[in-house]
Amino acid sequence: MEEFGESLPSIKTAIPGPASVAAIDTLARGECPAITARRARRARDSGASQDPIVWRRARGSNVEDVDGNVYVDMTSAFAVAGLGHGHPRVVAAAQEQAGRLIHAMGDVYPSDAKIGLIDRLTAITPDGLDQTILGLSGSSAIEAALKTAVVHTGRAGVLAFWGGYHGLSHGALAPTAYRDAFRRPFLGQLSGRVQHAPYPDTVRPPLGLSFEAPPEEVGRACLAHLEQLLGHPAAGATDLGAVLIEPIQGRGGEVEPPPGFLTGLRELCDRHGLVLIFDEIYTGLARTGDMFACEHEGVTPDILCLGKALGGGFPISAAVGTEEVMASWGSSSGEAVHTSTFLGNPLGCAMASAALDVLTERDWPAIVRARGEMITERLHALAARHPDRICAVRGRGLMLGIDLVRDRETREPDLGLALALVDACRREGVLLLPSGVHGNVLAFSPPFVITNAQLSHAMDILEAEFDRLA
Ligand SMILES: Cc1ncc(COP(=O)(O)O)c(C=O)c1O
Repeated sequence: MEEFGESLPSIKTAIPGPASVAAIDTLARGECPAITARRARRARDSGASQDPIVWRRARGSNVEDVDGNVYVDMTSAFAVAGLGHGHPRVVAAAQEQAGRLIHAMGDVYPSDAKIGLIDRLTAITPDGLDQTILGLSGSSAIEAALKTAVVHTGRAGVLAFWGGYHGLSHGALAPTAYRDAFRRPFLGQLSGRVQHAPYPDTVRPPLGLSFEAPPEEVGRACLAHLEQLLGHPAAGATDLGAVLIEPIQGRGGEVEPPPGFLTGLRELCDRHGLVLIFDEIYTGLARTGDMFACEHEGVTPDILCLGKALGGGFPISAAVGTEEVMASWGSSSGEAVHTSTFLGNPLGCAMASAALDVLTERDWPAIVRARGEMITERLHALAARHPDRICAVRGRGLMLGIDLVRDRETREPDLGLALALVDACRREGVLLLPSGVHGNVLAFSPPFVITNAQLSHAMDILEAEFDRLA
């Protein structure tokens, strides 16, 4: 029997088990009902149970719930646990730091831990990205990047993309265009200076292109559309200063742009004097098989946003920019115009530094590519067996998905099948999440440390459940 972290699933109760159900009942009494997923009603529609299990501990690629059931985590808990849950070096760094200094005074009296992290971020990010603003969440890194862009250009307008997910705090929600329901109630509070453009999705091409349109044509059409928008901006977006994009859309459904698109976008930003911001909160730090997804095509943005895996599990983020854009802020006169109480929290900085050390000591991108190929091969074989239900295998590295449809001809998204598979696999001890603007992409973003045995067991379960349900 492998030790916890590297073991196969072990399910002892119904899922969710009685302890999870009782704990969620307690939670429901005290927490705003909109927060924790209690999807019983929708689940009844699809025949699947999405009621949550409650986690008690996690290590490597394993999670244990309060009923003692052990799962293999194929989500890395929102792509955070790239190095696995509770990496021993990250845990040791947290323990050492907690015993010494938990909190400092971020911009007034910074800690040695913060200085260590800033230094590592300069070293690890692509050449030319040398100066960092730390944040507390993905959203706050996006907000720091958007602020930097307007300080640099003097122009407040932002171009973002349909299907993009950048976080839900007000500043990040304005460019987020993932689900209408996330924005609609708050539209009156969001910046009207954000304009959205189609993302070059080659599976369901935008701009009236057919499903058969070659990827390069989709990329070219989207770039031409952007060029047009810049020539004739929508009302309220006449002062564009920044372009914000995920180099592969994550929650949008593992949507990879066609080759040449990001290069074209860089060129367009240079020509129009726009600050190019890459949101690599999901894709960054080896997830896609490169240390940063922007390296795949050799495109360097003006600002790179990181979060999720950065803190090894601690909530911390960063916007790393060129000296040129960061210099636009000027020097602090003693009262920082951008900061927060917990900016550069020492505990988070120590954990992030340890995570970056681990990440740079081995060729993790190569490991990710190899594991990714293993999953991709299995997913292509599954798609060949179910051509009417899987219309595409999407993504790169260990950021993969299968696009589930009701009908291959119309590519009508099948959210019900995605939910049913998530539920069925969970009963067998494999944790998965749906993604995509229609919720019909079954996503795979396991920890890089997942063992071959865990990976192949998870794929066996997925295949068996797919054959049963599809
Ligand atoms: C690409 C991307 N950007 C930003 C965010 C927001 O990060 P946070 O939830 O930490 O605010 C997410 C979260 O899923 C994300 O996937």
